[in-house]
Amino acid sequence: MCGLGGIRIKGGIPLEGEVRIQGSKNAALPVMAAALLNRGTTVLKGCPRIADVLLMEEVLKSLGAGTSWQGDTLEIWARNISCCQVEKKLGERMRSSIVLLGSLLGRCKEAVLPFPGGCVIGSRPIDLHLKALRELGGEFVETEEGLLYGRTRGLKGAEISFPRPSVGATQNAVLGAVCAQGTTVIRGGSREPEVTWLCRFLNQAGGKIGGIGTSCLTIQGVPRLQDTVFTIPADRIAAGTYVCASAITRGKGILLEPPIKEMGALLGAYEKIGGQYAYNSGKLFLCSQRAYRPVRWMETGVYPGFPTDLQSVFLAVLTRAWGWSQIKENIFEDRFKVVPQLRKMGAQIHLEGQTARIQGGRLSGNIVRAEELRGGAALVVAGLGAQGETYVEDREFIERGYEDISRDLNCLGARTEKD
Ligand code: UD1
Repeated sequence: MCGLGGIRIKGGIPLEGEVRIQGSKNAALPVMAAALLNRGTTVLKGCPRIADVLLMEEVLKSLGAGTSWQGDTLEIWARNISCCQVEKKLGERMRSSIVLLGSLLGRCKEAVLPFPGGCVIGSRPIDLHLKALRELGGEFVETEEGLLYGRTRGLKGAEISFPRPSVGATQNAVLGAVCAQGTTVIRGGSREPEVTWLCRFLNQAGGKIGGIGTSCLTIQGVPRLQDTVFTIPADRIAAGTYVCASAITRGKGILLEPPIKEMGALLGAYEKIGGQYAYNSGKLFLCSQRAYRPVRWMETGVYPGFPTDLQSVFLAVLTRAWGWSQIKENIFEDRFKVVPQLRKMGAQIHLEGQTARIQGGRLSGNIVRAEELRGGAALVVAGLGAQGETYVEDREFIERGYEDISRDLNCLGARTEKD
């Protein structure tokens, strides 16, 4: 791939500035899917204008919904849903399109989707999604064209027990259950904030969901959802990325309106490396002058554990610590894909299974390539902490989740530019 554009970063400048945190990608996407269950108008304020949100908007339009933007407010009207098939070329580009399964079955009793990311069941499993929706009365087959076909005679409340928590599968179960007939109890569900926000949105739109924020949700089905105006919360991963940017440059920084309650694990890790912070009236003040201590052991986990989405970015920070650190990845197997690129910048990282051992030292600017969203952000952060100039190719991957990482970092005092 070439010609996707990149980000040029001048390294070695301690940050000092302030930045407002964008709306959350992972909260926005399932709420957009939920808008299909309302035969009227859903208004989402603070919606991030990022590639994945725009792609989800395209998908909703292809199903017959209307959409319009005003500033960062997205309006979706879903009176006429004329189609229950997500086009292959759209759905394949975004794994989270799978979250449409629950709402399409609820709305149309039928759904046709490409397997997310173009992968078949097994390598990118959706078994937990299907299990939950089967319990609610969904039936699924793979079509001859390799698509996932689902249908139901009408979703009915059920007892769903997850053997392990999955964010997307819990969201699909909630979306299937909210307008199903009768009561659903979900046990062992994900407690990630993005599930909580989806439930809050649904309740605001007339849903009856109890146990929000716990792993056991009770959902009394309602016939329909109502029009609602909802504000998408700030993005905890973008906020965490900027804390890491401050840390690696041993700078300062102020984050405006970050979702502080959801940032406990990241801020705990930031303190461990020597960062200091204070939170006051919606502002998070960062002081990273002494953020150079290594962390002997840390691991990713489900919420409220350390988020896997920040693992690569924090790994980048630890490559500049004074000593060795270890991080274990417990959620996704392929989360260390960024390591070869970080090594090109001089990072000393030794991988053993799902654990990375990092010997902190110096980084030097280089030309590196973003291959996925969070790894790409990690390379930008590494560039800030490197000597000289770094160029991160293929910023398209980063733009799936960050509205404009270059703009935001420059607000924080960095010198970066896009081309
Ligand atoms: C969501 C987030 C992603 C984040 C992840 C974990 C969105 C759009 N994406 O992804 O950014 O990194 O949560 O916090 O919100 N699994 C199965 N079977 C399934 C589903 C998942 O085995 O049916 C496994 C996955 O392979 C993975 C683990 O469960 O190992 C967690 O995945 P899951 O919580 O489902 O993540 P996503 O919802 O895909």
